[in-house]
Amino acid sequence: MSGDLGERTGEPVKPPLGIAVLGLGWMGQAHSRSARRIPTHFPERSFDPQLVVCADPDPGRRAAASEDYGFRRVTDDWRSAVTADDVDVVFVTAPNMLHLPMIEAACAAGKAVFSEKPIGGTPDHALSAWRLATEAGVRTGVGYCYLWSPLVLHARNLILSGELGEIVHYRGSFLSMYGSDPLGLLTWRFLLDQAGFGVSSDILSHSVAMAQFLVGDIAEVVGMANTNITHRPLQSGASSHYGTGSPEDPVGEVENEDFASMLCTFENGATGTFEASRTIVGPESRNAFEVYGTRGSLSWNHERINELLFYSGTDQTNSGYTTIFGGERFPFHGAFVPGKANSIGFEDLVAIQDFCFLESLATGSDFSPGFDQAVSVVSVQQALIDSWHSRSWEEVSDLRGRQ
Ligand SMILES: NC(=O)c1ccc[n+]([C@@H]2O[C@H](COP(=O)([O-])OP(=O)(O)OC[C@H]3O[C@@H](n4cnc5c(N)ncnc54)[C@H](O)[C@@H]3O)[C@@H](O)[C@H]2O)c1
Repeated sequence: MSGDLGERTGEPVKPPLGIAVLGLGWMGQAHSRSARRIPTHFPERSFDPQLVVCADPDPGRRAAASEDYGFRRVTDDWRSAVTADDVDVVFVTAPNMLHLPMIEAACAAGKAVFSEKPIGGTPDHALSAWRLATEAGVRTGVGYCYLWSPLVLHARNLILSGELGEIVHYRGSFLSMYGSDPLGLLTWRFLLDQAGFGVSSDILSHSVAMAQFLVGDIAEVVGMANTNITHRPLQSGASSHYGTGSPEDPVGEVENEDFASMLCTFENGATGTFEASRTIVGPESRNAFEVYGTRGSLSWNHERINELLFYSGTDQTNSGYTTIFGGERFPFHGAFVPGKANSIGFEDLVAIQDFCFLESLATGSDFSPGFDQAVSVVSVQQALIDSWHSRSWEEVSDLRGRQ
């Protein structure tokens, strides 16, 4: 029969990259889906992603890992997953306070490691993770996935090309409703021994990483924090992470901040303001920035991920902001959907990020953001925390300089 339909001959075999995922919650699932679909979005890749082992203490999650995601093996012992011979790269997607021991084990086993932000629950954890990875010589990545939005990459190109002139001011915000219901359960994000810090780690970190990506390093900060909802219903059994309790349920104390804000000065002299909240009512996932230059400005909001607003101070024929729609003309967008103004979404950013990280492992090319970038972010967080205590401006000093 002619055509040989179904036969695959003569195709180059791409080297396998064996993946361990530690924690199959929201982000563990997102990275696992990335691994499954990267081949269809990035056929020119240099590797074959293989879901080797998933570790999670929850039996339902382990069953899903095996039956729905197609992991080769599942386990409730993350240490055995990290050291397995067929694992090349470890994805750390468990609650924050587990990050550092998981990273330590991955470094000891000589595995590349991709950790979800913020890396650990305190600035010291991220610093330790960076030291361990540097000493072990393993490749690292960190999950500041919003930096991979095609329109954010375009915004950065516009800024670097001088389209906005000199940058004079930045507004960063991450306002979310995930904790706005007082009956929302007291899950790991609200507890010191599982999360460490609150929104300054959880979502302000995204805003700081974005500001550093678009404008540059931050030199000094002053800020404040608040816990708006001090008690929440206790989690019982296998209740879902974003589940709610009832007014009759026993309650426990929220141990970290719901809200954080700061003013800053960038190294280049620009000023900045930042706000992050998990209890605000209205903005559902408003991870947003505004960048103001001497010749123009840009505005982006994750809630409208496919739109970038651009004000050109030099174009005298038009006034007001112009909406730039996403499309295949911008980096990576065409890997998901062709044409213009056909939308992409949050998990597509994760897929772009994971493709770039795995491709860098396969080819030996550079990847950023890695653990060094995570330390830059927590260096700002440390200055902010110091400012909560001193109630005054604090210089940002790179934690890598600490003995
Ligand atoms: N990049 C982003 O935009 C983004 C978004 C959400 C969360 N995150 C980060 O991802 C990480 C996980 O957050 P999430 O929202 O996916 O949490 P989640 O609660 O949805 O999932 C956590 C998972 O870890 C598992 N787990 C708990 N203890 C474990 C252990 N000892 N070994 C293995 N697995 C264990 C839980 O059973 C659960 O399946 C956090 O560090 C968070 O900051 C990043």
